[in-house]
Amino acid sequence: MHVRPAELADAEAIAAIYNAEVLGSTATFDLVPRTLDEQRAWLIERSGALAVLIAETKNGEIAGYASLSTFRNRPAYSTTVETSVYVHASYRRQGIAKTLMVALIDTAKSHGFHSLIARIADSQAASLKLHEQLGFSLIGVEREVGRKFGRWLDVAVMQVIL
Ligand SMILES: CC(C)(COP(=O)(O)OP(=O)(O)OC[C@H]1O[C@@H](n2cnc3c(N)ncnc32)[C@H](O)[C@@H]1OP(=O)(O)O)[C@@H](O)C(=O)NCCC(=O)NCCS
Repeated sequence: MHVRPAELADAEAIAAIYNAEVLGSTATFDLVPRTLDEQRAWLIERSGALAVLIAETKNGEIAGYASLSTFRNRPAYSTTVETSVYVHASYRRQGIAKTLMVALIDTAKSHGFHSLIARIADSQAASLKLHEQLGFSLIGVEREVGRKFGRWLDVAVMQVIL
């Protein structure tokens, strides 16, 4: 398994990983799967100072990805970015998210960002633990800000200063 920057050709594999969560979990508040064109546009938006990293297996399969996204559009927020990480269900509990996030944090530092925010939808336990291990602290919980599968959902907001 190695970590590398994403390319446009990874869009289909990224969409497959993401759309499984859109349809099957509360890890994302999206309700409709992304099309291939939307996933390509998402990748293009994250070129330059932002980033998408891919975890690729020896066989060339994409096991997961992590990304830096704009946190807020107003200019004074530009040194803060939002992180996100998704691992294919067949590759979980093998340290892939941790490896991706360590590389993403290094990338964020080298790109000059100062603060990282992770928004943990539905306060998912796996994601909370992962981010704690990486040095993120819980800064608050947005209560019942979402609704999916007939339930109100919280978002736990975590942060690390680089
Ligand atoms: C959360 C997620 C990214 C973890 O990926 P992963 O590759 O399985 O995680 P890792 O193997 O690197 O685990 C790192 C740490 O996370 C925590 N963790 C991961 N999965 C866990 C689980 N199912 N239950 C409890 N803790 C878990 C553990 O602390 C683990 O460290 P440990 O193995 O030393 O105990 C993965 O479950 C996923 O893609 N979930 C759906 C999408 C999602 O919630 N993304 C986060 C949005 S910001």
